[in-house]
Amino acid sequence: MRRQLLLKDINVPGIQSYDVYRRQGGYTAVEKALRGMSPEQVTEEVKLSGLRGRGGAGFPTGLKWTFIDRKSGKPVYLVCNADESEPGTFKDRYLLEHIPHLLIEGMILASYAIGANTAYIYMRGEFRWIFPILERAIAEAKAAGFLGSNILGSGFSLEIHVHPGGGAYICGEETALLESLEGKRGNPRLKPPYFPAVMGLYHCPTLVNNVETLATVPSIITMGGAEYARIGVGKSTGTKLISASGHINKPGVYEIELGLPVEEFIYSDEYCGGIWKGRQLKAVVAGGSSVPILPADLILKTAKGEPRLMTYESLAEGGFQTGTMLGSGGFIVMDETTCIVRNLWNFTRFYHHESCGQCSPCREGTGWMEKVLHRIEHGEGRPHDIDLLDDVAKKIEGKTICPLGDAAAWPVSSAIRHFREDFEYHIRYPEKVRNPKHFEIEPLVPRRHLATA
Ligand SMILES: Cc1cc2nc3c(=O)[nH]c(=O)nc-3n(C[C@H](O)[C@H](O)[C@H](O)COP(=O)(O)O)c2cc1C
Ligand code: SF4
Repeated sequence: MRRQLLLKDINVPGIQSYDVYRRQGGYTAVEKALRGMSPEQVTEEVKLSGLRGRGGAGFPTGLKWTFIDRKSGKPVYLVCNADESEPGTFKDRYLLEHIPHLLIEGMILASYAIGANTAYIYMRGEFRWIFPILERAIAEAKAAGFLGSNILGSGFSLEIHVHPGGGAYICGEETALLESLEGKRGNPRLKPPYFPAVMGLYHCPTLVNNVETLATVPSIITMGGAEYARIGVGKSTGTKLISASGHINKPGVYEIELGLPVEEFIYSDEYCGGIWKGRQLKAVVAGGSSVPILPADLILKTAKGEPRLMTYESLAEGGFQTGTMLGSGGFIVMDETTCIVRNLWNFTRFYHHESCGQCSPCREGTGWMEKVLHRIEHGEGRPHDIDLLDDVAKKIEGKTICPLGDAAAWPVSSAIRHFREDFEYHIRYPEKVRNPKHFEIEPLVPRRHLATA
């Protein structure tokens, strides 16, 4: 078993409560920081750790904290992004539900570092049952003197509020989230000028960080940034939560040390336990539905033949031609019976539904892609549909206000790039694909992509 920082206490009975969390060493990082470190020193440790945002983009966390202007004369806010709507991603929910004090401790440290006295947890509305858990944890931390005014006599004060989201995927995008938190419709803002660090919540400097990112900070302060950076490979330091789902023997949330070979993650009993029902691996979506899909041969090895590792760099090796992204760590595994067209139609339906509608390429393009995919999947595809689909995806990519447009386009272009045979089969054999279980009956092409352990 590798090093565990986030999940090491997750199975301790009662860890949801302050008493048990504290008994396991909880809040000692806050004591260390507030009693003996300046805000700048806390930020410096996070910079040294090499921690990168776990919400999807992988931006260096410590560097982001330095962008906050503490001297603007305006209030500074911390907002925890707990919207977690990316299909295939369910790791933040796991932390929120089972070890809420870890997030609260991380938020105290981050708020202290950036000078925020008010912080929000913007949580996906569907996580209804988690609200009382968080509210109770906040009340407990306050009663113990870790929240409220003059925490541990340091002169630093902090209040944390939980805010339910309205249940829209786009509200996970940081500027849409801030609009929603202000009580408006969650439409993304233009960047520039609305970089949250400068013009965030109520036009004040705001730090937006993911749940897992913030929950990692206590470990960094406890062990020191340099020690944290010793875990992992290159610029992918530390541990990362991976939500593993799909056709594997052991789906679940795993904490891995970055640098773990993908092959080991999929096939070892410590993690996914191999492909279910003794079948072969066909494809993997490695970082939530928004990242390019890769066929088995390319997820296990790069195009250069090197073993693919669970790192930001290794997964991206080869660019979008032969690589993908770590993203949010939503790792969806598909076996040989999976119909890529059906899967893609499902993803595209989601993006069409979730587009906020502000920009035409995204609003119209996601709808067109859904329509074309629907007819291919239902045996009504036309010979030129594959190129049409690819063309629509290209016309969305890079031409929208926020990255949802790219997120909708990348799965489409990558599926066509790597699984063109699936699309052609649908158009050639319409009568066969009218049965929704077509590939279960006759696992398809392209054999070159299949892989066994
Ligand atoms: C459409 C869309 C949805 C997103 N959803 C989430 C989300 O649910 N949770 C999250 O942490 N980040 C999400 N992000 C990324 C955020 O915009 C932002 O980069 C992140 O919260 C920053 O935190 P980090 O630096 O700790 O990763 C989303 C981005 C886009 C474009
Ligand atoms: S890309 Fe889509 S979701 Fe993002 S602002 Fe434009 S229409 Fe809205």
